[in-house]
Amino acid sequence: MRFSTLLLPFAAAPLALAAPEPNPVAPRAPASTGGLLSELPGILDGVQELLSKDTINNLEVIVSGAAKLLSSDNIDILQDILNNAHTLLTKDFVDNTTTLIGDATPLVEDVSKLLGGVLGSL
Ligand SMILES: *[C@@H]1O[C@H](CO)[C@@H](O)[C@H](O)[C@H]1NC(C)=O
Repeated sequence: MRFSTLLLPFAAAPLALAAPEPNPVAPRAPASTGGLLSELPGILDGVQELLSKDTINNLEVIVSGAAKLLSSDNIDILQDILNNAHTLLTKDFVDNTTTLIGDATPLVEDVSKLLGGVLGSL
């Protein structure tokens, strides 16, 4: 939109006040040529590129796969898993597991050295 197009109504306003037109209906604002609407063709082109046949086929696979996963049987199973995980993850369990891992680490290192020694002697 040209700058002068924007300013024209303001430039004409004092004239309109000084000599009101016989027709009191305000002139229509000039049609907008900028803004989101002018970007729409570019956006649509972008969407069209996204919606290639391959993309649509891939989306169908993903959506039908997700739909299968989210069957009511699986939702029940997922709910059970989440409930159990929630029950397992008490502070006691996490503390004990951390201790267990801490205790196992030297053992794993020892086994690793032992294996290294055995393999080195072959
Ligand atoms: C954590 O370890 C303590 C002490 O060994 C034991 O009494 C408790 O039952 C354990 N808790 C869990 C959740 O394994």
